[in-house]
Amino acid sequence: MATLVRHGMVAWLAIGASLLAPLGYWTALRAINGRRREGEPPLVRGHVPFVGVAASFGRDATSFVQACQAEHGDVFTVFLAGNRMTFVLDPLSTPAVLKAKQLDFHPISDDVLAKAFKLHQPRTRIDLEEIEAIGRTRLRGERLTSLSSRMSARLEQLVPDAFDASWSSTQLYQVVWDIMFRAGTEALFGDDTVTDDLRADFEAFDEQFPLMVAGVPKALARDGHEALERLTRAKLPGNDPSHWIRDRQPIIDTLPAAERGRLRLPALWAIHANTIPATFWSLYWLLRSEAGLSAIREELAEVCPSGVPEVADLDALTKLDSAIREALRLSSGSLTLRQVLEDFELQTESGRYAIRKGDRVCLAPFITHRDPGVFDDPLTYRYDRFYSAEGRKQFYKDGKRVPLPLMPFGAGSSMCPGRFFALNEIKLFLAIALSRWDIELADDPEPPFEFGRAGLGIYPPAHDVGARIRRKG
Ligand code: HEM
Repeated sequence: MATLVRHGMVAWLAIGASLLAPLGYWTALRAINGRRREGEPPLVRGHVPFVGVAASFGRDATSFVQACQAEHGDVFTVFLAGNRMTFVLDPLSTPAVLKAKQLDFHPISDDVLAKAFKLHQPRTRIDLEEIEAIGRTRLRGERLTSLSSRMSARLEQLVPDAFDASWSSTQLYQVVWDIMFRAGTEALFGDDTVTDDLRADFEAFDEQFPLMVAGVPKALARDGHEALERLTRAKLPGNDPSHWIRDRQPIIDTLPAAERGRLRLPALWAIHANTIPATFWSLYWLLRSEAGLSAIREELAEVCPSGVPEVADLDALTKLDSAIREALRLSSGSLTLRQVLEDFELQTESGRYAIRKGDRVCLAPFITHRDPGVFDDPLTYRYDRFYSAEGRKQFYKDGKRVPLPLMPFGAGSSMCPGRFFALNEIKLFLAIALSRWDIELADDPEPPFEFGRAGLGIYPPAHDVGARIRRKG
């Protein structure tokens, strides 16, 4: 009898626990991943306490955000690895986000400096805003012309030297990587800066950058952390650096010696992490587009009969410019983030929403870039999509002009200061490579994007593609 009672109790406990467990789970999920308050956008909590939607976002951010948009509309909040992020996806509402006084970019960039570069609160010790201002002025105008000439001179030497007159089978991303890393580092940081160690350490750091910036425990990104420490000791800048790098140096030198290297690295990372994959996709998709390739060759022959443009010619290469922007449209996975400084209400095209202090507001240009309401047949590469014989091409949604249809460089206060140089670098590489090499792609399928870098900029290919290259006679 006693055994029966015991068994009965155990059974009831088991039934009770199985009924209460989901309740406990839901309570924990709501307690940790939060609730939607009145007036706030719909909340996508995910299914795992604290982690939230991180796994779905990391697997394929584009599909995940598109699925949330289909279910909840253009404005919703997701709970992602401890952060609440409100997406505002309607491109007509982008200016409202960029103009809101309650939204600030500095806490976001300070967080990146702390997590990825181990540089804690430099803003309290040095004039980071002056460093940012130097970036905005030294990467355009006359300084941009001299910087682009430095890049051109290096590419003109490296591209022809990379292959001889007989065909070589090679890996295209690696070829682009090697040449752009060397030419870009030397153009900006000066001669004799690129060593095998610098390249290997940069590659190791960049590969683990997504983990480091997400703040995972050090043990999970050990290679990246170790490479970071070695990079902070690299001899940068070298001889005769660019104005940008030279003019920011006196401010960096006011930091204690141990921290100076940490503040040089964000610039090294920023010049390459997006430019190299963007150059790859620009070349790759052009090589796969017969019409595009012949139109660009024609334009190059017309604008610069030698095949290699002078820096002064670059602005006239409008079809090439369009082909590069089209590659940026398709390969960009960047997010434009802002920290909410105080509770406020954001007026968007789809309504007015309460936004909470401490949350992040987030623009996801890759959604607009794939919006069939803005771009016809958005998944297809069209080299001339952004080409217009007169002025800038305009794009519309529901009959209204979209103010910023293409945002690979971000927008507003955090817009990339290197965007003009980046476009010049890519134009120069493509023009020089097409005029100095014969290139044939191997019959490999198109590589998918490396989605682990969601939110961080231009996706690299998940794997390399084969190509045959020879120097033209
Ligand atoms: C295709 C190439 C490039 C793309 C797509 C790109 C994209 C971006 C984006 C989206 C941001 C803003 C990040 C944010 O909002 O969190 C940014 C910031 C930045 N970029 Fe670029 N970038 C490229 C090339 C370059 C180059 C070549 C340079 C330098 C010569 C550069 C220098 C910077 C700097 C210094 C920042 C930080 C600005 C700040 O924190 O105020 N970028 N870039």
